[in-house]
This record gives sequence, structure tokens and C-alpha cells, in this order.
Amino acid sequence: MGTVKATDRIWLDARLDVEKRVDLLLEEMTLVEKAGQLHMSANVQPVRDREQLLRGGVGASLYASGATGGNVRDEGLMVTAINECQRVAVDESRLGIPVLFGRDVIHGHRTVFPIPLGLSAAWDEDLARRCCHLAAQEASYDGVAWTFAPMMDVSEEPRWGRVAESLGESPVLAGRLAAAMVEGFQGDADHHGRAGSIAACAKHFCGYGMVQGGRDYDTVTVGENTLRNLHLRPFRAAVEHGVASVMAAFNDIDGVPMHAHRRLLREVLKDEWGFDGVVVADWNGVGQLVVQGVAEDLRDAARQAMLAGLDLDMVSGSYGRYLPDLVESGEVPLEMVDDAVRRVLRMKMRAGVFERPYTPEGHSVGAPGRSARALAREAATASMVLIKNDGILPLHENVGRIHLAGPFVEEGDALLGTWVLDGKGEDVVSPATAFRDRIPAADLIVSDGRFSDLGVSMVRDSDVTVALVGEHRSRSGEDRCISTLKLPAGQMEVLEEMAAIGKPLVVVVFTGRPLELGRVLELASAVVVAWHPGVEAGPAVADLLLGRTSPSGRLPMTFPRSVGHIPSSSLERPTGRRVNRDDDRKLGRYLNALVFPELTFGYGLTYTSFE
Ligand code: BGC
Repeated sequence: MGTVKATDRIWLDARLDVEKRVDLLLEEMTLVEKAGQLHMSANVQPVRDREQLLRGGVGASLYASGATGGNVRDEGLMVTAINECQRVAVDESRLGIPVLFGRDVIHGHRTVFPIPLGLSAAWDEDLARRCCHLAAQEASYDGVAWTFAPMMDVSEEPRWGRVAESLGESPVLAGRLAAAMVEGFQGDADHHGRAGSIAACAKHFCGYGMVQGGRDYDTVTVGENTLRNLHLRPFRAAVEHGVASVMAAFNDIDGVPMHAHRRLLREVLKDEWGFDGVVVADWNGVGQLVVQGVAEDLRDAARQAMLAGLDLDMVSGSYGRYLPDLVESGEVPLEMVDDAVRRVLRMKMRAGVFERPYTPEGHSVGAPGRSARALAREAATASMVLIKNDGILPLHENVGRIHLAGPFVEEGDALLGTWVLDGKGEDVVSPATAFRDRIPAADLIVSDGRFSDLGVSMVRDSDVTVALVGEHRSRSGEDRCISTLKLPAGQMEVLEEMAAIGKPLVVVVFTGRPLELGRVLELASAVVVAWHPGVEAGPAVADLLLGRTSPSGRLPMTFPRSVGHIPSSSLERPTGRRVNRDDDRKLGRYLNALVFPELTFGYGLTYTSFE
């Protein structure tokens, strides 16, 4: 079969209705080409994978960024030249179907905003929409057509590292923000597919926030009521707002892995909700069906996933390799494969990939400019939650000498948060830089980041100490689970010593999750939860402490008293026995401890009082 001449490729005519264009294209496709559209590879290469591209064997590829691949951060990965690959796919292959390039643009592209859990603490749909819109503009400039975001797994499990990527424990808040984020990435229905927008992905469908013990990739057991009323809600909102794709979760539900979950993928998501976009696998999720013990081998895994309604494979290679044979042997109906291909082609057309397969060369997104920084600062400020203030904040001009201490004083990269592929530590304004810009040198002591005896001695030489503590960004995110909610090793001890000196102590906690803060709240005069704030970390913290801005964030997730209190959240249903909240002598439910959360969902103070 020869190449279809460009003039005969009527499906390229953007004036035709998308469904019509897809019909025309589907009629031309061989079974092998169809299977190719359902395969996503990691970092497709123009030379190494030329044959596969020529065969139409690469429907999508993940991780490329930059027209010529120049800005891929991880040097361990091979660099994908987007345009060179597209030239083979579009200009040389038989049907000329462009590759769909996806990338994890989770909380900003080059301009890094607060982690999603922080953005959620702002409770501001419009802000979330604007951040995602800017991220989409930057990412599309770098050739990215699709992001694997927003993540909307509802979770009350702070040990799970991925709560940093989530929108917190409330299905309602997560649903509203997810819908706004989808619109920010994709544009509203009239703008989806225009230059500067990218396709979004609601992930991870579903129940991932309930992994046992907060251990990533673990199993899930859940009843229908909890699933429908809590965990499916944000996904439904995203689908109603036209999200282009939905990603299957790594976990099983009651023994059925999500990548083979016909009832939830095909019957609920597609049939009941009418989702007409792409259901995409997570990384080797189809391959993992073998490890999860439900598929005999990779061929069987492909069969089960396709029957379940999983449209696009991510990197297992199973669809490209086995689907043609599975159809020919009658194990998978052709109509199912056609429907999956239709969804992938529809998504590419809606996202404008057929119209704009190429990325302008010669430049990539540079360091954040003024307006990008203004938005990043607005978001970082809005995300911060004041959880205690005995009146020390805001720090007044006559407060005397401020001592800035802690491991994050001079940090940039550590404050970007999890899942940052294109952002750079050098773009971050550190807390020390921001304070130096705002406070006369004579009134500021900055101790080194070691948070040691030296820092403790400087408490004596100052009038107030601002201690910046918490988690490095590498302590949260995928596969970053912890069995304790305590501050990282050593930090609490230094805070104890500092507080013992008797001068006022302000504690700022950078974190990707709720931590155990009871003792910190006892020791400090004021405490701010600042999450991982992104490129404007320093200015946002400094302005907030100095009263140039006012705190407005509220916790999107409960902070339990200790790890032994988990689960502890607003998702609890009433029991038949109430606990008396007012009577401390009756501890209730635990013999040795109060049962109520340290900080409840929605908690957050500001500098003024309301009547
Ligand atoms: C994660 C997804 C992510 C994918 C691609 C997986 O390990 O679970 O959230 O989108 O990798 O990077």
C-alpha cells in the first residue's frame, strides 16, 4: 500500500466535522496502523524508531519537550526531537498521522507554581484556571500537546507521597478545581485546540488515593457508596467539563486492576457518563497486569485491557504487538479497536495536532518573565495557610533584628515541589534573597542552612527568629511515602533548643503533605504552612510575614495529630456513638490520646478579625 497523496487526505480538511474526518481516516487504515495509533512510546527517536514511525506505529509519545529536544532536564533520558519525528510521521508515512506528544506538566511548565495541594489551599477556581492556562501556553510553545494533569485523586492519607500532586481530601473542592484546571489547559469548548492550549488528562481513575497504608501502587478495597460519592466525583466533573483524556490508576479495586476494570472504565466512565475521549494507561500499567496476577502474559494483558475499555497503551508495547493478532483470532472485536482508534484520532483533531504538528524552532521557553512571576507570586501567596499567630505576625518594622534560619533559607530547587520537568532551581527566588531585598542589612541575620548549633546561637543575637523547616521536595511525590508524619530528622530538636532561649519563634513549614505539627504549634508564636511554593517562594513568604500581603489559604487536607490517628479527615461518616468534643477527660475512642485532628480541613487564619 502506497502513501496516500497529500491532496487525497481529505481528513486534513479542518472545515469538515471532526467525526466525519475520523470516519474518512479510519476507512483508510489497516489493522496494523490502527494498533499503531494505540501505542504510546517513551521518547520516540527519529532515527532509532524511523521504521516504526514510517509504519504509523507510534500514536503518541511521552516526555519530549522542545522542537529539537533541547530542554529535556533529565540527562539520563534520550532526547526526542519533536519536529524530526513529526517529519517522518506526517510527511513520509503512508497516512501522515501526526504523533501526539504528552508530558507531565503538573504545576507549571518552566514557570513553576505551588504544588497542586498548595494551589488547592487557595480555594480559587479562577486562579487555578489562570495558572494552568499559562502552563499550557509555555508547554505548547515547547511542542507539548497534552499534559497528564490534573490529578484529582481524593485522599485522606498523608503518608502517601502523591497527596502533593492532589487537590486534597474534598471531592467537591477537587471537582471544582479540576474542572477549572481542565479549562485552563484546554481552553473552554470554543477554544480547545487553538494555539496555546493543550489537552488535559484526569488522573488516576480511580481510587488511587486509597492505597493501603499510604503505600504507593498498593491495593484498594472500597465499597460502591464511598467510590461513587467521594472518589468518582472529581472525575465526573472533569468529564462534564470536556477533559480530553482519563488515565487509569495503577491500583486494583477489590482484586480487579484498574487497567482491566471493565465495569468502571467501559460501563461507568464511557457508557454511563458518556465520556468520548481517550482512556490512557499509566506507565506500563498494561504490562503490570501480569505482575498483578490477573493476566497470563503480555498478550493476555493487552486482550483484557482492550476489552475493559483501555484505549491507549503507555510504553508496554502490548497493543502494537498483539492487537492485530487478537482481532484476527476473534479474541477482541474489531469494533472495540475501531472505537479506541476513533477516540485517539478525535483527541488529536480536537487538540489541533493535525493542524499544527510542528513546533517553531530556534527558541524554547525562557526563564519566567514579569507577568508569569506575578501570577506565580499570587498563587504562592494565596496557597499559604497561617495556622497560628499569637500576634507576632505581621512582623512590624520596629520588631528589631530578624534572624532567618533553617535548611531552606538559601534554597531554590528544594522549594519547587514534586514533578518538575522543565522548571529550574535557578529560577526560584530564595527566602534569603527576598528578605535581603526587603530588610536593611543591619536588621537581618541569615544563618547557614545547616540548622545547627550556629543557628541556635544566633537566636540570642536577634529579636525574632523565622525558622524555615519542613520537607525537601524529594520527600514527596510518586513513590515517596513515609511511615511517620514527623518533621525530617533533627529539625524538631533544633526548634526545641531555639524556643528554649525564650525569644519569639516564627515557623514556616514547607511540605508536600500534612505533617505532625502539635509540638511546633506549642513552641512557636506563629506557624505558616507554605507547601512547596514554586519560583516565587521567597517573595511570597517574605511579603506574608512582613504584612505586605495577608494570609488567606485554608487547609485542603486534615492535619492529623499523629500517624497513629490515620485516617483522620472530614470524610468520616457519623457513627452510632458520638465522641464528646468538649470533655478532655473522656479521651474518647483512643484511651491514650485525643481523637480529633490537630488541624481540620478548611482551617486557616488571617491578620484581621471578622464579625
Ligand atoms: C505516573 C503518572 C505519570 C506517568 C507519566 C507514572 O509513573 O503515575 O502520573 O503521568 O508516570 O510520566
